Amino acid sequence: MVQIAPSILSADFTKLASQIQSVEAAGAHLLHLDIMDGHFVPNITFGPPVVACIRKTTQLPLDVHLMIENADAYIGAFAKVGANWISVHVETCLHLDRTLKEIKSFGLSAGVVLNPATPLGVLENVLPFVDFVLIMSVNPGFGGQSFIPYSLEKIENLRKIIDHRGLSVKIEVDGGVSLTNMCDLVQRGADILVAGSQIFGTSNPGDNVRAMISRSAQCLE
Ligand code: DX5
Ligand code: ZN
Repeated sequence: MVQIAPSILSADFTKLASQIQSVEAAGAHLLHLDIMDGHFVPNITFGPPVVACIRKTTQLPLDVHLMIENADAYIGAFAKVGANWISVHVETCLHLDRTLKEIKSFGLSAGVVLNPATPLGVLENVLPFVDFVLIMSVNPGFGGQSFIPYSLEKIENLRKIIDHRGLSVKIEVDGGVSLTNMCDLVQRGADILVAGSQIFGTSNPGDNVRAMISRSAQCLE
């Protein structure tokens, strides 16, 4: 089954709790939280205190996507405030193996994120030790960007590698995901679809989640 992970980056932060409740009630599977530091990516979002507040508003697993330098220094803080999944960019982690072990040490799901231009080869040694790989299908930093088409081949190739090695690693895709392109992603092997502007870009996020869930069922028919 495909999982839908609304990204609150495009939500209305003046009514964040009710927006989160509407996607949860509509059947979203995860809540995707984009943490940006203004260094690794040219934008700044929020940190552990806001995640702690979000934790109080929802039962959904919190999928924390760290777009920050020196992720190691903050993993414990995000674990403490209720993150369930934490992913780190391979481009920022000099000691990726150690960082993944740090995430696992808190009993959380550990993911590795690849920028569009980062090849799959970097995953070779760590793939058996991750719970999910997050394929960025836009350059990270902003919501509402266009899907980069060569990401499709990357998803397809990663699916082949995971299956060939007999692993159960999930593939998550983030950036430019829409009702229009989601079947392409699912058919190439994506398990989890992150969507920001597709879900929070109109006034009824719950309806948009329901539309994505019903479309994802059709994609696999
Ligand atoms: C971008 C973020 C995404 C963002 C996606 O750097 O990682 O999670 O919210 O937004 P859309 O779905 O609008 O491309
Ligand atoms: Zn993200």
